Amino acid sequence: MQTSARAIAIVTDDPGWHGRQLVKAFAARDCRAAFLRLQDCSFDLAGSAGIVLGTDWAQLPDAVFVRGVPGGTLEQVILRLDVLHALKLLGVPVYNDGRAIERTVDKAMTSFLLHRAGVPTPPTWACEDAGQAQARLHAEWAQGHAVVIKPLFGSQGEGLRRLASGQPLPALDEYQGVAYLQRFVPPAGGVNRDFRVFVIGGRVDCAMARFGTDWINNVAQGARCEAVAAGGDLERLALDAVRVLDMDYAGVDILIGADGRAQVLEVNSVPAWYGLQSVTEHRIAERLADDLLRRHVHVPGRRAGPVQDAALHAAAGLALAVGP
Ligand SMILES: Nc1ncnc2c1ncn2[C@@H]1O[C@H](COP(=O)(O)OP(=O)(O)O)[C@@H](O)[C@H]1O
Ligand SMILES: [Mg+2]
Repeated sequence: MQTSARAIAIVTDDPGWHGRQLVKAFAARDCRAAFLRLQDCSFDLAGSAGIVLGTDWAQLPDAVFVRGVPGGTLEQVILRLDVLHALKLLGVPVYNDGRAIERTVDKAMTSFLLHRAGVPTPPTWACEDAGQAQARLHAEWAQGHAVVIKPLFGSQGEGLRRLASGQPLPALDEYQGVAYLQRFVPPAGGVNRDFRVFVIGGRVDCAMARFGTDWINNVAQGARCEAVAAGGDLERLALDAVRVLDMDYAGVDILIGADGRAQVLEVNSVPAWYGLQSVTEHRIAERLADDLLRRHVHVPGRRAGPVQDAALHAAAGLALAVGP
């Protein structure tokens, strides 16, 4: 990489539209952005940094934008997250960092942290025991509620099932041995709709209502998007959730129930914004690039904050070995 321009590593194994948007946005800000696959990274204690970032990164980047952490075996995923943790320890800003990703990729931990902080979220249970899950279903049904079962690490509405009274609990093998159960929240007015609020740097950047073809309102499941101004409860809940989970940016899913209460369903630390971009006038990738650079990367001529100082010192003292 050239030394003059800021070097931004975009972590993904599937650059696609989002990757291109980010490269363009960073390029327009005099940064050289290039992709980095976590699968290509390794620990190598023979080198001074102790870590090798594939073959294309001979030096530590000035910052890392995490666009995706590919799935794999438990060991592979942990090693990939270790790389993000190590980068942060080496003083490289990681946007969203590994801890934020861990807290939110795991829906049970997200739910627990939201609940603990008093951020409204539906009653949720996560366990490994099918008998316990079954008992919970019966208790919910007895109170007139349906229940949603979700994959613990799921996304894009895949694998969700609504279990109304009497419907069998799926075999937990289909859910990697974990039952993550959440009370079904009937939507206001009976309309299939929820909200995606996009938060960047502690502020709402944009938001949309998603109208699903059924109760699962993900864009990937065919939902129609409509821009909304996120004020009031939507804004408050989204910002509270992001603060509690300590994230640089996030896609917060919020549903307004038939009782009029807004509740946070989940928080995404590597959210897609293709659907949201289709109803938003400004370029979301540009807002993300601006926020990352403004808060985390030293710009020559501007005074660096403590985090930036740490990053500069670490980056100055460490050169990565070029991998094989
Ligand atoms: N408890 C719930 N009550 C009602 N609808 C829900 C509930 N949980 C999820 N949904 C619907 O399913 C969608 C996907 O759920 P979500 O928890 O966001 O998982 P994913 O990670 O797959 O997006 C939500 O956007 C919402 O439309
Ligand atoms: Mg979601």
